[in-house]
Amino acid sequence: MKNLIQVAIDSPAAAGAGTQAKLIAKHYNLFYLDTGKIYRFIGKLKIQNKKKFNYSLIKKKVKKMKIKNLNNRNLLSDKVATEASIIAKDKKIRKIVYHFQKKCAYNPPKKFNGSILDGRDITSVIMKKAMFKFFITASVKTRALRRFKELKPLKKKISYVEVLKSIKKRDKNDYNRKYSPLKKTKDSILINTTNLTKKACFLKIKKIMDKKLRINGNI
Ligand code: C5P
Repeated sequence: MKNLIQVAIDSPAAAGAGTQAKLIAKHYNLFYLDTGKIYRFIGKLKIQNKKKFNYSLIKKKVKKMKIKNLNNRNLLSDKVATEASIIAKDKKIRKIVYHFQKKCAYNPPKKFNGSILDGRDITSVIMKKAMFKFFITASVKTRALRRFKELKPLKKKISYVEVLKSIKKRDKNDYNRKYSPLKKTKDSILINTTNLTKKACFLKIKKIMDKKLRINGNI
């Protein structure tokens, strides 16, 4: 039996990791989980339940959470993203969502050849033993511009400077928090997307993956 293909990606906000993860998932038929959406789901819960927001509410909602809940467009806003990066500092909240991520990583639905997860602590905590580990990054200005272009159609009044500020704030939260901070693990391959097109970036990753998958007999 062939080994499941496991891909772990970490990246700061808006570095293009999600785009690459989707392309990789499609190409290799992998189950994809955007783990940031789980923290956004809880961030949104906090915005909607200011007074009732506590661990038991989070546990209850996460227990019932389905992948389709994570695809909800209302999780995309900058306000939700900022709230996500605040609640994500909480050790107990990270513990609540740990098993959901582990299950997706190690028991993907049978029709897939494996799994791919992206987030902030995937290479360091969730999929430490993944076959492939990538750290995808880009300059903060490039990331803010990409994010601005993404958000503009959803929120007409948003400005580039505002987006840059919020990305910097999230970087600060994610790199400096006590539990599961964002970092490049020694065994992760660095991919800097600042001057790469989506396609060029994908081809770079594919080349790395194909080489190992051929040796392993997966392809
Ligand atoms: O990836 P995305 O930008 O949607 O993530 C939103 C926030 O969720 C991040 O800024 C980060 O604080 C948090 N997060 C995390 N660990 C993950 C994924 C996301 O702490 N694995």
